[in-house]
Amino acid sequence: MNISQQLGKLKRGIFRIKKIPRFFILLIATIATIQFLILPALTQQPVTVQVLMSALEAAQWQEFVDEFEEQNPNINLEILEGPNETNLVEDLYTSAFLLGDSPYDLVYLDIVWVPKFAAAGWLMPLSDRVSQDQLSKFMQGDVEGGRYNGELYRMPLRSDGGMLYYRTDLLKQGGYEPPETFAELMQISQALQQQTGVEWGYLWQGKQYEGLSAMFVEILEGFGAFWVNPDTLEVGLDQPEAIQAVEFLLNTIEKEVSPPGVTTYAEEETRRLFQNGEAIFLRNWPYVYPLAADSEIAGQFAIKPMVHQPADSSGACQGGWGLGISQSTQHPDEAWKVIEFFNRPDVQKRFSLATGYAPALKSLYTDSELVAKYSYFPQMLEVLEKAVLRPPIAQYAQASDILQRYLSAAITQTMTPEKAMNRAAQETRRLLGD
Ligand code: GLC
Repeated sequence: MNISQQLGKLKRGIFRIKKIPRFFILLIATIATIQFLILPALTQQPVTVQVLMSALEAAQWQEFVDEFEEQNPNINLEILEGPNETNLVEDLYTSAFLLGDSPYDLVYLDIVWVPKFAAAGWLMPLSDRVSQDQLSKFMQGDVEGGRYNGELYRMPLRSDGGMLYYRTDLLKQGGYEPPETFAELMQISQALQQQTGVEWGYLWQGKQYEGLSAMFVEILEGFGAFWVNPDTLEVGLDQPEAIQAVEFLLNTIEKEVSPPGVTTYAEEETRRLFQNGEAIFLRNWPYVYPLAADSEIAGQFAIKPMVHQPADSSGACQGGWGLGISQSTQHPDEAWKVIEFFNRPDVQKRFSLATGYAPALKSLYTDSELVAKYSYFPQMLEVLEKAVLRPPIAQYAQASDILQRYLSAAITQTMTPEKAMNRAAQETRRLLGD
């Protein structure tokens, strides 16, 4: 073999060696594409997003969960059922976050939990995900209630505000207009209890829990009093007007306008009594309306803003619920997709039509279909726009706990209203670092 033949053989050899890697490269690329791109896409497990809600609301949202999953086949949305009382749900979230490794990707938050959860670092900031323009479509109080230190941590899903329910048939029978003041509420109650034989005049939430603080905020406002000024941290619980507010509640029990058991009732106990025709007036949230409209008293009740002192104005406690994203979730984008879906105007509208909850989107209060079903929606909008916040401070849970304990002591007559409110004010001042 001469040199040129030898060179030729070498070239062919090199060529063959070169050819093998090309083939391999192709083969490896094909296998990699199948293994890393096609197979995972074909066999991909949907991501599960979990949230905890009261059992009552979990059932109400379920129909929308099915719809969401149909439209988002890669996301599995699981609503875990919790207790119906807000404090108990809060305790479950709190212990999950304190223990670490929380199973919740989304947090369904009562408006009063936002400062605490945000300050503890349990929620992701949301302002990068939503524009000011989008936010301006929601009720202002509900958006503001989702902020802490200027950052947004919660998107509103539904608003809430306390209202006075009254029996139109009984008031008509006695020839009364709906009451405007605390005194009228007492007087009409006592007269109608006598005339009609209906057992109770006025039902309210007196159990030692968050509902007691929410209800009391309205009585305070009606007496021209206040709890904590969030800007100055001034505490108003021992002022004479605040003590009068407690005396009013105690008086309803002493005069047998309210049942003695009212000191153990949450929302649901009072709703059931009212629906069964056992009371003339009820303080409660809008969720009661469609349920009562389907009960024994159907067509015989209406709602109006809460009563007040002649010189003061009516107050509705700002309530409401919304979704935040848990700081520990592995799936923040999927969680945000859930929020976007629940906030969609058509979903909000159908949810409100079905449940009577006060919508988070402003435009729905004047939506013709909603107004045809709930004629009081435009009036409710006015009430909610002036709703009174419970103090939006990071120590809210402790402040509310103090108030609940002393209010409960006063209405169960283990302490005078004056002593109870003095103590409550002192403890609250200590809490706020006075
Ligand atoms: C309602 C309100 C909530 C409040 C709770 C008290 O759920 O929306 O804000 O804390 O009642 O029971």
